Amino acid sequence: MRKKLVAGNWKMNKDISESIDLISEINKGLNSSVFDKADVIVCPTFISIYPVCEYLKHSEIKVGGQNMYKETEGAYTGEISAKMLISAGCRYVILGHSERRQYFGENDTLINQKMEKAITSNLIPILCVGETLSQREENKHIQTVTEQVKSCLTDIKASNEQEKFIIAYEPVWAIGTGVNATPEQAEEMHSEIRGILKELYGEDISEQIRILYGGSINEKNSTDLFKMKNIDGGLVGGASIKAESFTKIINSVQ
Ligand code: 13P
Repeated sequence: MRKKLVAGNWKMNKDISESIDLISEINKGLNSSVFDKADVIVCPTFISIYPVCEYLKHSEIKVGGQNMYKETEGAYTGEISAKMLISAGCRYVILGHSERRQYFGENDTLINQKMEKAITSNLIPILCVGETLSQREENKHIQTVTEQVKSCLTDIKASNEQEKFIIAYEPVWAIGTGVNATPEQAEEMHSEIRGILKELYGEDISEQIRILYGGSINEKNSTDLFKMKNIDGGLVGGASIKAESFTKIINSVQ
């Protein structure tokens, strides 16, 4: 049985004191029993990671980075390494978000290298994939996502004993638009992704890998999305930087 997971991607929002205000509100808004049903992750900006981790020392909420570089260290101005994220308290890292692909030119080859680095450094990457509106309109959404998943997972091993990575299906047309994929549209893609994982890793492992949905999740649509067989939780953007909405989304996990 896959445990549900709800992750908040704060994107480029909240300075340090605002981040502490937000995490304290989220923390106070969650009953400890919720962690039996769902894992909860927040992904603040780099400068807020350490203070947020310090704040969460005795909490079950885990922390992730929003990006990292593929190299160990060196002359890469403006970048951050897996080891640095771990030293600040991260267990997870979002990789290949469509905003990284769109605004910072990231491609599947680079994302694949980052996946490898994250996993060998003991971070659990949340690999983001998803088609644009025109790709869906041309009926190329499944082909696009299939290619992204296969390229980003090239030579990446999975395991029965330990969670190595998580996948997030985030259709670009649903991100920040208020138009979420319907539970049926998301389930169709999640089941395709599960099929690819089965091809790559076999039935047992493919059944254990968590596949999150992301794109305009809110407290009104989360229940129906999270009910679907292959939707193992959500990667939440806008609604994750409002404590009330985020805690309601987490509490909607059945
Ligand atoms: P929204 O929830 O704001 O649509 O963003 C989704 C997302 O990009 C999460 O990574």
